[in-house]
Amino acid sequence: MRSLYLLLSLVVVAVSPSTVPTSYEGAQVWRITPPTLDIIGKIKKIGALFELDFWKDPSAIGRPVDFLVPAKKAGDIRDFLSREGITDYKVYIEDVQALLDDHKSAYEKPRERSATRDVSSFDYSVYHTVDEIYEWIDMVDSEYPFATKRQYGVTYEGRPMYVLEFKKTSSDPKPIIFVDALIHCREWISTASLLFIFKEMLQNPTYSHMMDEADWYFVPMINIDGYDETWNGDRLWRKTVSTGASSLCRGVDGNRNWDSHWSEDGASPLPCSYTYHGPTPASESEVRNLADLILSFGFGNISAYVTTHSYTQLILYPYGWSTQLTPDDQILNDTGRMMSEAIEAVHGMYYTWGPAAEGIYVTSGATDDWTYDEAGVKMSYTFELRDLGQYGFLLPADQIIPNGEEFLAGLEVLKNFVVDDFNP
Ligand code: ARG
Ligand code: ZN
Repeated sequence: MRSLYLLLSLVVVAVSPSTVPTSYEGAQVWRITPPTLDIIGKIKKIGALFELDFWKDPSAIGRPVDFLVPAKKAGDIRDFLSREGITDYKVYIEDVQALLDDHKSAYEKPRERSATRDVSSFDYSVYHTVDEIYEWIDMVDSEYPFATKRQYGVTYEGRPMYVLEFKKTSSDPKPIIFVDALIHCREWISTASLLFIFKEMLQNPTYSHMMDEADWYFVPMINIDGYDETWNGDRLWRKTVSTGASSLCRGVDGNRNWDSHWSEDGASPLPCSYTYHGPTPASESEVRNLADLILSFGFGNISAYVTTHSYTQLILYPYGWSTQLTPDDQILNDTGRMMSEAIEAVHGMYYTWGPAAEGIYVTSGATDDWTYDEAGVKMSYTFELRDLGQYGFLLPADQIIPNGEEFLAGLEVLKNFVVDDFNP
């Protein structure tokens, strides 16, 4: 009896998510390009019914919707689609586990030789672990006198949260630009491309003006606990890892948890949903601490805020909670277009721009609406980096630098706008 109990508890330990990587054996990503609003409605219904993980949410007519189909749900989803008269869908990623395996072997090998100790020899062409990114933050802090790491909190699991401040001395006040990444921890390209971008601003003479003309604040990884989970457990985890007292499922969607129209449309009240808004506004330490940090600058004192996600190649701005436009719509739109043009000129990649709800889909409690309304950041943007769905979240590492190069061109446009517009 006793040994059976022991055996059972060992089995339970062995399958717990943090010890064994989650398997996506037999899982696929399907794509539907909805021809009508009616079909969009039906896709949303299927999403709620099967608790689907949308990789690309239902938005507008003609805009592709991607979702993960676990092996054991495939038959039921197929039946449901045919009952609803949706025949026009395709298997977009045939074998998610195979793609994961390729992705994993590609990032694991180069990492062994990337154990470097300074900012210039750090390998920007591979993805890095939590600890390696902590090391990078330390290297930047110690190598550059005008760069300072500041701890602004601890995560749910107790990891320190850092912001890097880049503030070159000058007699004149300068605009502040704030950049974050990885509130959704599976969107690895967001952090990876930004490490490259900040290295370029520090070391490439072509871009050093960016740090001469503005003060930059950079949070390289918001959802650190979740990021660790994506390396050691479930590569496709999106949410935080907190467990609420009444929750069946772990995790809150950080980009639905901000205290701006919290729990309205485009966020789920269900703890197991990928877009669960959490038990209360800013319930997550990852969101609450970052919000406090942003507020510490004072209302209206940050000139631009960029929160970085992937994928779909989009430049979004408020509002997300409503299709109503902000008073700054014209300038956000013009700057969005100019950023898109600058990005396209680098490697020919096209980024669509527009107000989030009006142009894409309604989401409440997102970062950009909160920074705009509650922190007074006029130029608030959400960037969705590469790609358009071929690899989705499993973007090959050889795209990190090209993606960084084009994103840098976009940020340069934003910096130019902010510098011209600045009057302290
Ligand atoms: N992919 C992002 C998400 O689902 C897009 C958010 C768009 N909304 C916004 N307010 N920017 O969280
Ligand atoms: Zn995201």
